Amino acid sequence: MPDTPHDRAALLAARYGTDADAGEPLPPALAALLDRRVTRRYRPDPVPEPLLETLLAAAQSAPSKSDLQQYSVVVMRDPVRIKRIADWIGTMDWIASAPVFLVWCGDMRRGQLLCDMHAMPHANNNLDTFLNTAVDCALAMGQFIAAADAVGLGTCPISYVRSHIERVTPLLGLPAGVYPVSGLTVGWPEARRKISMRLPQCVVVHRERYDDANLATEIGAYDARRRAREPLPATGLKNHDIYGPKQGATWSENTARQLSVPERFGFAAYLRTRGFDLA
Ligand SMILES: Cc1cc2nc3c(=O)[nH]c(=O)nc-3n(C[C@H](O)[C@H](O)[C@H](O)COP(=O)(O)O)c2cc1C
Repeated sequence: MPDTPHDRAALLAARYGTDADAGEPLPPALAALLDRRVTRRYRPDPVPEPLLETLLAAAQSAPSKSDLQQYSVVVMRDPVRIKRIADWIGTMDWIASAPVFLVWCGDMRRGQLLCDMHAMPHANNNLDTFLNTAVDCALAMGQFIAAADAVGLGTCPISYVRSHIERVTPLLGLPAGVYPVSGLTVGWPEARRKISMRLPQCVVVHRERYDDANLATEIGAYDARRRAREPLPATGLKNHDIYGPKQGATWSENTARQLSVPERFGFAAYLRTRGFDLA
């Protein structure tokens, strides 16, 4: 297990790149949350099935909208099938080093079947249900990630399963009403990555009323802190093929590069073919 410091000042300085007061020593569970980072390379050691079951139970312990539990998760352990997904993605070969690959799915189907079982109509095939399935699913995945961290396992969500959704859907045998929200690699970390610096709370956290009046100033300062700690490479920036290389690019510019090009714009059409009305 990683040796997590319990020192509030050190953990918050790592997370935000700014000074923080020492305060009281943190309980280990809270310190571990502050110290989390994704893992993108795994040792070949297996993840025992009883441990995986316990972590999945932790995931299922997450809150669920109206206790409807509208999500499913597909566990993949077959290295050939995991590699197939890695190959489709093409730019993340390390996915194939994970002994376990989970695909977290929003699931409207089970509720539809329950209505059938009780001879009632399912009258909630709408955008709200789509959102509820995605939120339930993301909360469960988040809780799985924290549980995995607690036993020293590493994880990384993989949104790219949605970039190959037309192949992932039949590979997993997903029926209508079930769609992938995110993949998740799971395994014993080969090495721990650095902490990724987050936006300051004054940008993300709003008190009583939403207020982004100081956004430009705060983003400028955040960009500078991030660049000082971990400069972005001149090549390999987002949408490099359109915008080309740039020395000294910032987080906000790289974010704008990514958001300037539509990603997975066929997703709503895919969902409609899978039985979601999204009305
Ligand atoms: C829904 C979701 C999808 C993600 N998809 C990918 C992915 O496809 N490939 C990847 O390498 N990382 C993926 N990530 C991980 C993020 O890139 C990572 O969380 C972010 O860079 C911050 O790093 P940290 O988690 O170590 O703080 C994803 C994260 C989330 C929450």
